[in-house]
This record gives sequence, structure tokens and C-alpha cells, in this order.
Amino acid sequence: MPTPYAYFQGDIVPLEQAKIGVMTHAFNYGTAVFEGIRGNWNEDDKTIYLFRVREHFQRLQQSCKILQLDLHDNIDRLCELTLEIVERSGYEEDVYIRPLVYKSSEQVGVRLHGLESDTVIFITPFGPYLDIEKGARCHTSTWRRVDDLGIPPRAKVTGIYVNSALAKTEAQLNGFDEAIMLNADGHVSEGSGENIFIIRNGRIITPMPSDNVLEGITAATAVELASKELGIETVERQIDRSELYIADEIFMTGTAAHLTPVVEVDRRPVGDGKPGPITSQLSAIFFDAIKGKNERYRHWCTPARTRVTS
Ligand SMILES: Cc1ncc(COP(=O)(O)O)c(C=O)c1O
Repeated sequence: MPTPYAYFQGDIVPLEQAKIGVMTHAFNYGTAVFEGIRGNWNEDDKTIYLFRVREHFQRLQQSCKILQLDLHDNIDRLCELTLEIVERSGYEEDVYIRPLVYKSSEQVGVRLHGLESDTVIFITPFGPYLDIEKGARCHTSTWRRVDDLGIPPRAKVTGIYVNSALAKTEAQLNGFDEAIMLNADGHVSEGSGENIFIIRNGRIITPMPSDNVLEGITAATAVELASKELGIETVERQIDRSELYIADEIFMTGTAAHLTPVVEVDRRPVGDGKPGPITSQLSAIFFDAIKGKNERYRHWCTPARTRVTS
């Protein structure tokens, strides 16, 4: 039987032993940064492929700088620890790995300085997040994306996810799958946990990082695959809300969401209301790449061979 393990206070322990106290600073004030890493199960070679682990830890390092958190382990060690957790836990399905660096001091008082930091990494089984086949029905959120002048969205700060949760819940309670957030200027920013791309006249367009988006690793993957495999370069520029209504195709990218077509925005069908041709082509290439099936992109995938068979 698979048993989840975690890296906690410097050791790898069964997940159930990784507990923090109620006075922990990060629990009280949202002063932590995190990552989400996918482990994609490949049934043919009975292997979980961890996707772009190093890039996730590089982004974690940047988030730590922004939030004045000390990352005690170097990137090589964090990659090794992640592999060790996946292999020991023994899952034979898609998994999600969650590294967090948090202000671990048990102290009351709002600030970033003068506090201890600690790192935790845990694993959980994780299936599809949005409907990749049918596509997602989205609406434009009434919640604006947080601004770099408030809490920088380029850092994956736990506290920022209140903004995402407000938007996601509003979308779902209104009968949609996902929210599209505009930034304070009213330009398209991103989903609650995804970057967004529109396709107009064969051109792929995505908001700029300065439109208050997380600089997504899946987005960078989609941009590279579109260029190398389809010969389509992606343009980064501001996107107006009304462009969502006339786009030929829209898709979202994210570690959880993979590459999900958007088939409806604000009750208007995108294109003919079905996943479009460029999105579908890109999606097929993407899923082969993340499951270690394409030799050209094997360097993105770290194979984890589980030690327990169920
Ligand atoms: C707000 C937000 N935008 C975009 C993304 C996509 O980033 P990535 O592809 O690196 O997972 C995520 C997911 O981590 C996210 O939470």
C-alpha cells in the first residue's frame, strides 16, 4: 500500500508526523511560499515522471527572496529529497508534490524580518483538476488580481491564494469551472491557478509578467512547444476583456490544470464552443512530453521508480 512521506524539520518522515503548532507565524499571517510539482504516471513503463523539478525549486528560491525566507537546502538537495519522497511513498498514479518554505517561529507579530524559516515537502495523489477533454467554462471574476504593489503575484505566496480562492469560489458558485481575473488596470491577468493564452488569427497571445501573473512553468513549456513543434511564436502583450469574446481559441496552463482548453467565457462560446485545432495539437504534444514519451523533452522529466507495489 502506498504511504505518503514528507520532508519535515530536516528528516523524511511519514506524512502523519509532519505537524506544526498553532502559533506558527506562517499559519497566522500567510507568510510562506510554495510550489506545486506534478508527478505524471506513465502506465507503459510503470514510472512517475516528475516534471521540471529544478525549475520549480528555482522559482521557490526567487519567492523566498521576495518574502525574506531562508532556504536552508540547495536546489540539488531539494530535487533529491523530492525524488526520495516520491520513491518511498510508492504511488502508482499521478501525484502532486508540495514544497513550502514558511516562517516557522511561534511568535505573534506581523513582519518578515527576525523570524526562523523552515522547509516542508509533502506528496498527495492528484488526478485531473479541470476537464481537459471537454474544456473549461469560465467567467470574468469580479475579484481583481492582486497587484505587485500589494502582494507580488510573481512570488508564490500562500497568503495570495485568498485572492485566488475568492475568485474560484465565486466562479464555481455561479456555475462555472474557473475564473479569469483582470488586473487593477482591467486587463486580463490569469486564472485562479493558471496562466491564460488566447489565439487570434493563428497567433498565440498571453499577458505580460507585469500584468500581475505568476511566471508559469507550464506556460513556458507551452510557449517552447508551440515554437519548436508548431512553428508558432507567442506574443506577450496586454489583453482586453473583449478579446476573450472574439478569440478563436483560448487555453489555460498550470501544474494542476496541465493544458486545459477554455470553451466558454461569460456564457459566450469560444470559437465554435469546442477545443480548437491549435490547442488540441499543442495539448497532444504537451501530454506526451510530460509523461516522458517524447525523447526531445526527456530532460524535463525525472523518473521516479516506486519501491512499493500495491
Ligand atoms: C496563480 C497561478 N498562476 C499560474 C499558475 C501556473 O504556474 P505553473 O505552470 O508554474 O504551475 C499557477 C500554478 O502554480 C498559479 O497558482
